[in-house]
Amino acid sequence: MTVKSSVDSISSGQPLLQLEHLSVASKKLPSHCLVNDVSFSIEAGKTTCVVGESGSGKSLTALSVMGLLSKQLQLSSGKVLFNDAELGILDLAHLDSESLRKIRGAKIAMIFQEPMTSLNPVLTIGYQIGESLTTHLGLKGAALKIRIASLLEMVGIPVDRANSYPDELSGGQRQRVMIAMSIACEPQLLIADEPTTALDVTVQAQILKLLDSLKNRMNMGMLFITHDFGVVADIADNVVVMFRGKIVESGTKSDVLNYPQHPYTKALLACVPDVDGVKPLQPIDYRWLDELSPVGVLEEELQ
Ligand SMILES: Nc1ncnc2c1ncn2[C@@H]1O[C@H](COP(=O)(O)OP(=O)(O)OP(=O)(O)O)[C@@H](O)[C@H]1O
Ligand SMILES: [Mg+2]
Repeated sequence: MTVKSSVDSISSGQPLLQLEHLSVASKKLPSHCLVNDVSFSIEAGKTTCVVGESGSGKSLTALSVMGLLSKQLQLSSGKVLFNDAELGILDLAHLDSESLRKIRGAKIAMIFQEPMTSLNPVLTIGYQIGESLTTHLGLKGAALKIRIASLLEMVGIPVDRANSYPDELSGGQRQRVMIAMSIACEPQLLIADEPTTALDVTVQAQILKLLDSLKNRMNMGMLFITHDFGVVADIADNVVVMFRGKIVESGTKSDVLNYPQHPYTKALLACVPDVDGVKPLQPIDYRWLDELSPVGVLEEELQ
């Protein structure tokens, strides 16, 4: 494996993941950054929530970590430093594709924004959960069956459903299958891209609780993308707020939720409905954009 940069092995004090000045652009229009100079880090056993409106660059940031940007896009600058327990610090932005493939699924896993399209409808869920166990850990036969059963149990799906096909399960169960697939190889880092957006609130609460307990049990770092500040309040340790490809604010959950500094964060928080119905919903006031000088954004777009 090509190790681009090796500082120390999982050295104390080094975060599990560190994004340094990451930028993503379209190959056709390299001067227009879709993700622009993004830097933040995630510690083992901690959750960083990335929030921001649609199109702000959350998913592209996550896909950059996984080395899964589409062919039209490129990482135009920056580093993705992953502190691997065995190999030390790797710059995933400059790793060859074969080495990245070995890390994906095994050490870093992702729950995608659209889980329904990530499950294969013609394969049983047991088979799909087992695939990465065979590929990355070489598990087969009885050992594989036992591990699949324990993963199903962990995510609260009856073991006898291993032979079911995705369309025989409910939406919440399918999402649990996706979680079982993502944690199968006990990754050090789990990236979850809006994993609960499509689910009703009861199932959402169960899934969040499940992810949080798995994170604690496995000391995983978690990069959790969401639109929902209720979710942030539930599970985040740290928060990164993105707008039009840039980070406008980041900090601990308590600082960002209680003492937001940036007008966009304040505006987002003002949009959170009040359960008592006391606080009226506020439209976002974009006048602060004058000060932000956004990347290639025409203000008319926001009117
Ligand atoms: N393959 C692509 N080619 C060109 N532009 C793209 C491509 N993929 C995404 N974009 C653009 O990059 C920007 C960021 O997209 P991204 O998917 O990261 O947004 P997001 O914050 O995840 O939004 P959402 O909350 O809707 O999922 C958007 O303007 C989007 O249109
Ligand atoms: Mg997205």
